[in-house]
Amino acid sequence: MRLEPPEKVSEEQLTIDVREIEPLLQAPPMDLKPWPEAMIPLRQRDGSEKMLYIRQAKTEDVQPMLAFMKKVMEVEKDFYDIVGARVYAEILGEYRKRLKDPFTLVGLIDGELAGFANGRFKNEDIAISLHTMTFARRGRIGWAMYYAKTYYALEIAGAKEWWSTFESYNGWRMAGLEMAQPSYPWPEYQHELGGARIFYVTKKYWDSSVKAFAKQMIGSDLNFNVTDEVRKANENFRCPETPTL
Ligand SMILES: CC(C)(COP(=O)(O)OP(=O)(O)OC[C@H]1O[C@@H](n2cnc3c(N)ncnc32)[C@H](O)[C@@H]1OP(=O)(O)O)[C@@H](O)C(=O)NCCC(=O)NCCS
Repeated sequence: MRLEPPEKVSEEQLTIDVREIEPLLQAPPMDLKPWPEAMIPLRQRDGSEKMLYIRQAKTEDVQPMLAFMKKVMEVEKDFYDIVGARVYAEILGEYRKRLKDPFTLVGLIDGELAGFANGRFKNEDIAISLHTMTFARRGRIGWAMYYAKTYYALEIAGAKEWWSTFESYNGWRMAGLEMAQPSYPWPEYQHELGGARIFYVTKKYWDSSVKAFAKQMIGSDLNFNVTDEVRKANENFRCPETPTL
């Protein structure tokens, strides 16, 4: 837009340093507590047990995850395409500082990315669940990752409510159904992921019921005393060569 100035001005052109624009575009961060790393044993269908190591994503993980997510978004099955595309944008959004108070957890088995879970804080009371993904299937990895990020939001970072929505049947079963999450009236309330229903867990409901979800539904719990052996087994992060979904 242009209008003539209503008075004579000394300088008709102003030069603005982009460093002065950036604080307006970037949200000031909330100083969230970090996820302290955890491990959780997961029983496999063949009776064996795999140890899932869950830590915060690091900056070095970003490029390999973006490259992997490009492949995942090509998989037209079980909603991996839409979720892969959105997760790509979220990883990049966090990296380019265009998400407000995001948090991202990666689940590794022997250093390989097996699970992903992220979210962000809308404000001090409400945390939004973004996405959960499993890359080694049928091992309840998604359930552990979703539980871990819910634990983070409500137990560690101090949210009073946790808002999710579900883009896939497996996602809805894992968290909407199995955590018996109620939903807000729709379309009055809409989740930021495409305007779908908001399913929610309050801190009160978490304390009374959902906190027991891992033990009840996965058969094991998060252990925050990660052993040196598990840490060492996961020190070199890598993504699967190709998604086998
Ligand atoms: C949603 C998701 C995180 C759930 O995690 P999960 O339950 O650990 O994931 P899995 O995909 O391994 O298993 C889910 C179900 O898919 C089906 N399934 C998976 N692999 C299968 C296979 N090879 N053959 C037959 N069924 C299969 C099974 O019904 C399985 O349930 P079961 O483990 O009780 O048998 C995961 O399915 C996923 O990443 N989906 C794509 C992204 C997505 O939809 N994210 C959630 C957005 S709301």
